[in-house]
Amino acid sequence: MATSQLDNATLQEQDKHQLHPLQHPKTHADPLVIERGEGVYLYTADGRKILDGMAGLWNVDVGYGREELAQAAYDQMKRMAYTSNFAGMTNIPATQLANKLSGYAYPKLKTTFFTSGGSESNDSAFKIARYYWKRLGKPDKYKVIARQFGYHGITLAATFATGIERYHKMFGPPVPGFSHIVAPYSYRFAGELKSGETIGLAAARALEEAIQREGPDTVAAFIAEPVQGVGGVIIPPDDYFPRIREICDQYGVLFIADEVITGFGRTGELFGLNRYGVQPDILSFAKAITSGYQPLGGNQITDEIYDAILSAPDTDTWMHGYTYSGHATACAVALRNLELIENEKLVERSKQLGERLLAGLSSLKEFSVVGDVRGLGLICGVELVTDKESKTADVALAAKIMRSCLDRGLRTRNIGSTLAFSPPLTITEDEVDEIVRILGSALDSAG
Ligand SMILES: Cc1ncc(COP(=O)(O)O)c(C=O)c1O
Repeated sequence: MATSQLDNATLQEQDKHQLHPLQHPKTHADPLVIERGEGVYLYTADGRKILDGMAGLWNVDVGYGREELAQAAYDQMKRMAYTSNFAGMTNIPATQLANKLSGYAYPKLKTTFFTSGGSESNDSAFKIARYYWKRLGKPDKYKVIARQFGYHGITLAATFATGIERYHKMFGPPVPGFSHIVAPYSYRFAGELKSGETIGLAAARALEEAIQREGPDTVAAFIAEPVQGVGGVIIPPDDYFPRIREICDQYGVLFIADEVITGFGRTGELFGLNRYGVQPDILSFAKAITSGYQPLGGNQITDEIYDAILSAPDTDTWMHGYTYSGHATACAVALRNLELIENEKLVERSKQLGERLLAGLSSLKEFSVVGDVRGLGLICGVELVTDKESKTADVALAAKIMRSCLDRGLRTRNIGSTLAFSPPLTITEDEVDEIVRILGSALDSAG
């Protein structure tokens, strides 16, 4: 029986046996039961068609229903779906993918460690940093500085690297060693500006001050997303990351770029830091590496860090790895997905269509409740306020507009007072215009 013939209410009833991520009765009272997807559209079991303005969770970059990826998974599963990739064994897709990724995002990152997702990648990044400093005879360098509004995932360490209180509240006490500095959030900068200082440089200065406060001999790493997605689509000023790189170099602090959202084209560049001419020491990636068709993530590291692992005595072996590190089927799908991204020029497309989306959303600034519109490539945010002068965040309105968009056939995500947009990179011009039109109509009806 096709799923569409199942009764929506029955499916919703059966779903009561599932505990969902971030579940609260209020947000899961009437869940959408998604039956299938095609291109940028999702189709529900009760027959609705919804433009997925979030590409799943910022990740379905090549769009839904791609036979090429199904075929790649099928072929690899028949040959050998999975086997151990622990030291002493390897498999062909993982080898090929690591080779392909060598120097792919950033020239100095040539070696890849595979995980199954973004949180695992960030936990691994913290362990890589600690391992590295221990190998260099500096075991006291273990702390990680992160940022307010940063989101790094939900494993215990990633939770407390995350700079959003809601994720901490029910899971304390905090993991020791994580602290947070202000975000480079131009619309609502919470730091202090010295005279003549830009927001980008003031936000970077907060890192220098935090390193000095904690003690440079105790700080292992700084972690940052090039664009803070889950924290509200916060895009840094252009002078921020170059200064961050200088500060990390000056104090001997590793720079971890969390590119779980920004990797593989989302911002209109292949990777998020490419725009700023800056390379990290450790990279975390996930999501769009497979466009969500298989769970896969990973880290990339410099030769210096890799050498610390390769030159270790037995007693200091790199005792870290997941059952699914280098999963053969996931890696085969990733290889095919990267081909699609390249062949269809989706990075360039993200830049061009992103400009169209940003221009369209910016035209909605005529509404008195639209306080700020920001975007880079195909990741955009529209921040709602009670009035433009006071900039008071209107969280309730954002929730209302999100539901109203859904009723009109558009999926967005309300993050506090910001509505996020991150559609598949395969989106057409007409579909971009549809996003703007539906949001405009939802705002109109709320006024
Ligand atoms: C920047 C960033 N890092 C890490 C994660 C966590 O990834 P995952 O949910 O795959 O564990 C996310 C998820 O949205 C993310 O946006």
